[in-house]
Amino acid sequence: MSLFIRGGTVVNADMSERADVIIDGDLITAVGLDLDVPAGAEIIDAGGQFVMPGGIDPHTHMQLPFMGTVASEDFFTGTAAGLAGGTTMIIDFVIPSPKQPLMEAFQTWRGWAEKSCADYSFHVAVTWWDETVHADMGRLVRDEGVNSFKHFMAYKNAIMADDEVMYNSFTRALELGAMATVHAENGEMVFQLQKKMLEMGMTGPEAHPLSRPPAAEGEAANRAIRLAEVIGVPLYLVHVSTKDALEEIIRARNNGQRVYGEALAGHLLIDDSVYRHPDFEVAAGHVMSPPFRSKEHQAALWKGLQSGSLQTTATDHCCFCNEQKAAGRDDFTLIPNGTAGIEDRLAVLWTHGVGTGKLTREEFVAVTSTNTAQIFNIYPRKGVIRAGSDADIVIWDPGATKTISAKTHKQNIDFNIFEGMMVTGLASHTICGGVLRYKDGDLRVEKGTGHYVKRPAFPPMFRALEKITTAGKPRPVNR
Ligand code: URP
Ligand code: ZN
Ligand code: ZN
Repeated sequence: MSLFIRGGTVVNADMSERADVIIDGDLITAVGLDLDVPAGAEIIDAGGQFVMPGGIDPHTHMQLPFMGTVASEDFFTGTAAGLAGGTTMIIDFVIPSPKQPLMEAFQTWRGWAEKSCADYSFHVAVTWWDETVHADMGRLVRDEGVNSFKHFMAYKNAIMADDEVMYNSFTRALELGAMATVHAENGEMVFQLQKKMLEMGMTGPEAHPLSRPPAAEGEAANRAIRLAEVIGVPLYLVHVSTKDALEEIIRARNNGQRVYGEALAGHLLIDDSVYRHPDFEVAAGHVMSPPFRSKEHQAALWKGLQSGSLQTTATDHCCFCNEQKAAGRDDFTLIPNGTAGIEDRLAVLWTHGVGTGKLTREEFVAVTSTNTAQIFNIYPRKGVIRAGSDADIVIWDPGATKTISAKTHKQNIDFNIFEGMMVTGLASHTICGGVLRYKDGDLRVEKGTGHYVKRPAFPPMFRALEKITTAGKPRPVNR
């Protein structure tokens, strides 16, 4: 099966060019001007459109068991919604319960994800520590293609990793050539503030952001960054939502530390006024952690993205329907945390990024696809339109418009945080693994057509290890 994408402008993170694209099987085989159409190829006319690497969402939670319920979007419906919006790969999270073996949890998530219709990979959370976790991290890196381990610094009494767990896990990640990642919020501070809010009689969603102040994120970001600095492991901060955390990232990067930051489309575009909405469903529908922040923080995040201090964009797609959110009607701490966005990420970032001049088209590709592929070591297989790369492509119609609504979206949730937002610039075609899966509103998906993507370990970073293990004595380096 071959496809011929004719007459579009190919946009990569480094340059744009008028070019045709030939796909044979699941690979891109040629990119160039006025190519010959291979015999039997299906032709897609991309005149006037941009041909870009499919979006990679590095932060999703399909069918996550969380806070007493299970996210409504599963791996099939969620990856299908992603394809409708131009996203061709997700990196989801395996989250073992405390004391659950990592390998057991990994196999469970692998099983759930088999129905995916776009490509997928996994970060694995380290929620507890003993020698079996140490061993399983090794197996995950060596045998299963996992190169990133997640640490939730929040969610006390559930999946929170304390400093001891993080110290052990960061150290092991460095040994294995893996990336440490964190959800940076001081879980103890949040826990105490939640109690205080309830004691004061503040039981509604308006208390959610008050219980998770920017300082809680700034403190945790600094703690994780400092720990990573001492250990010498690269660190990726998911869903950076505050100026406080961003400033810690900038400081560390200016100091030569390998630290990366991710911004969510929601945090860039929605502010904390939503929590004061009089309708519980609307306010609770926006409950996620860290919460949406004031406009000052939003402006800082945009600048972080523009300046390269934040490198990736994601959604933290974690869907709970109104009925599920109602569990916290009388106690905001029981509202399942999570919001959707996989279908809308590219369109809202194009509209508010490229459409306003904050991002060039090439920067858009960088922050929606290429940087994630590079940071998580799957480039140039993913994240670029180039001969030899996977044929994961979005054809982007810059003139197409729509108004986002839960009534019309394909996501399996009855709420949309971008409800009523008019976007200009939409996927007209999405190709995943060389197959046209979405065309002008028509999804052509089948369960199980997505593939698990292994992500190789990074070369060991011995230099940093030397610093703390040999107190200055040179140590043989085996590269
Ligand atoms: O509220 C959120 N973000 N829910 C999903 C879990 C997490 O913290 O990423
Ligand atoms: Zn999180
Ligand atoms: Zn998350």
